[in-house]
Amino acid sequence: MTASSTFNTNFKQYLETTQIKGETIPAGLQELLLAVADTCSTLSHEVAQGALIGLLGSAGTGNVQGEVQQKLDVIANDLLIEGVQGCQSLAGLASEEMELPLPVQGTGDYLLLFDPLDGSSNIDVNVSIGTIFSVLHKQDPAAPLQTTDFLLSGRHQAAAGYVVYGPQTTMALTLGDGVVMFTLNKVSGEFVLIKHAVEIAHSTKEFSINMSNMRHWAEPVRRYVDECLAGVSGERDKDFNMRWIASMVADVHRVLSRGGIFMYPWDQREPHKPGKLRLMYEANPMSFLVEQAGGASTNGDQLIMDLIPTELHERVSVMLGSKEEIERLQHYHSQDS
Ligand code: AHG
Ligand code: MN
Ligand code: MN
Ligand code: MN
Repeated sequence: MTASSTFNTNFKQYLETTQIKGETIPAGLQELLLAVADTCSTLSHEVAQGALIGLLGSAGTGNVQGEVQQKLDVIANDLLIEGVQGCQSLAGLASEEMELPLPVQGTGDYLLLFDPLDGSSNIDVNVSIGTIFSVLHKQDPAAPLQTTDFLLSGRHQAAAGYVVYGPQTTMALTLGDGVVMFTLNKVSGEFVLIKHAVEIAHSTKEFSINMSNMRHWAEPVRRYVDECLAGVSGERDKDFNMRWIASMVADVHRVLSRGGIFMYPWDQREPHKPGKLRLMYEANPMSFLVEQAGGASTNGDQLIMDLIPTELHERVSVMLGSKEEIERLQHYHSQDS
């Protein structure tokens, strides 16, 4: 094995030296992103210990989403709060695991939202999991924190990213000028730049969906997947492959790494909910990354980044990835309405 001398920019150096649309990254945003990355580095270490430090299994509690919390959902949430609450630039944070936002500093410019641990069902089976985060500008830094401060469309994100804890621990990040990736050097504890200008090819032959929900899907989704399954003998001119990891963070990482599309669409199991995934902690940050990599992200009717949230824990139907396939899905939805 040879160490590569081409990978010599760590995350701190990247933040200090990079210009986004001709501007240096604000010091407050650098401080916040470094705190998130440091916490995820710690979390990566804990995740790798698993049973050795009693990390697996259920916490025996429930969250605001109506889900049973795993121990790691709670540990990751607590670690992130502890890791960022000293940031002077942070006004408040909101998490999938907490009913209400948490005020942090009185006058910070930024709001942080996160899914502390994505892929809870994969923790105990040693399959990739991750952390997803989104940073918004607080519109009025001087005013006391309110839940409504967070209810901004994805277009207002100053930064978004995820850290996937897999065979490697890798972070993807966008600041609105493309997508970059870093891998954690587990010896030094630093994230090291591995990829610039990540791009999702416009066409693909790979889709990702939980097929066990097929009988519950809406007609446009059923039509799309039926055509993928029919391969060259059907409407499409290609044979498709399918992957489903059941951790959005790992499925989206695959889409950013080699293309494809990921879907968790609305289905009839819960007809009155708009979908399963969370707009603020999952769909918006992933949509920002995917758009910045040249892909697209929709709920079928609208681009996810254009949705104006009305609730902090709002759910949404998600279809994202290679542009041609997302356009096809949007077309099928428009024909159905
Ligand atoms: P979380 O662990 O944060 O609650 O999110 C789990 C989500 C998402 O990561 C994944 O794509 C989906 O749930 C998996 O759902 P299925 O159990 O239907 O496969
Ligand atoms: Mn959850
Ligand atoms: Mn999640
Ligand atoms: Mn989660």
